[in-house]
Amino acid sequence: MPQPWPEEKTCHGVSFYHSRHTRIRQLKRLHSPRDFGYRVWTSCWLLMDYLRSLRTPPGLRVMDVGCGWGLAGIYCAKNLQATVTCVDADPEVFPYLRLHAELNQVQVATQCKRYENLTAQDLQGIDLLMGADICFWDEMPEQVLPMIDQALASGVRLILIADPGRSSFERLANDCAVNYGASTLNFSVRQPHDISGRILRITNR
Ligand SMILES: C[S@@+](CC[C@H](N)C(=O)[O-])C[C@H]1O[C@@H](n2cnc3c(N)ncnc32)[C@H](O)[C@@H]1O
Repeated sequence: MPQPWPEEKTCHGVSFYHSRHTRIRQLKRLHSPRDFGYRVWTSCWLLMDYLRSLRTPPGLRVMDVGCGWGLAGIYCAKNLQATVTCVDADPEVFPYLRLHAELNQVQVATQCKRYENLTAQDLQGIDLLMGADICFWDEMPEQVLPMIDQALASGVRLILIADPGRSSFERLANDCAVNYGASTLNFSVRQPHDISGRILRITNR
């Protein structure tokens, strides 16, 4: 018999609520994220485990773009002692993010902005720019590329974008390989369940 999914779980050091949890159901009556910000997406777990493997120094300044419920950013604040800003175009995701920041007892800043509109000022001082499941429609490489350009010009040292491997993401990865010498690797995790995908890595040379 399959075990029922517990309503609250901890994976990769981050606690999160299942969508059936009372507190999530309460929020859903008040806040309706659009553009897929209504749940936690799988690629954020790839990003967390990949970041753990990098053994980054504590105190990084991190920006999590297209953050949704913000678990990747919360991971960095909780486990990497990072200073984190979570950015999303949809303000309706932030109540879910704040609930999870509270659950994990961390503080993260939020910014409501489209990633293609991030300025040099927004990106100034950021060490790591990351996003999970942010290139899911055909036109999205054209939105993500200007952000990458701006981030590299602003001195961001490392950019990581995780994805299940959609064709839009692969097009972005190819453009980044040509323009910035970026690499893309296959990556998988076993928790919270078996997840495989791709991680695009761009370093500022
Ligand atoms: C598929 S969800 C992924 C959420 C989160 N990264 C995760 O791993 O659970 C995509 C998120 O990107 C946001 N988004 C979509 N287009 C955006 C844009 N142009 N600029 C900023 N955020 C955007 C959506 O509001 C949504 O929260």
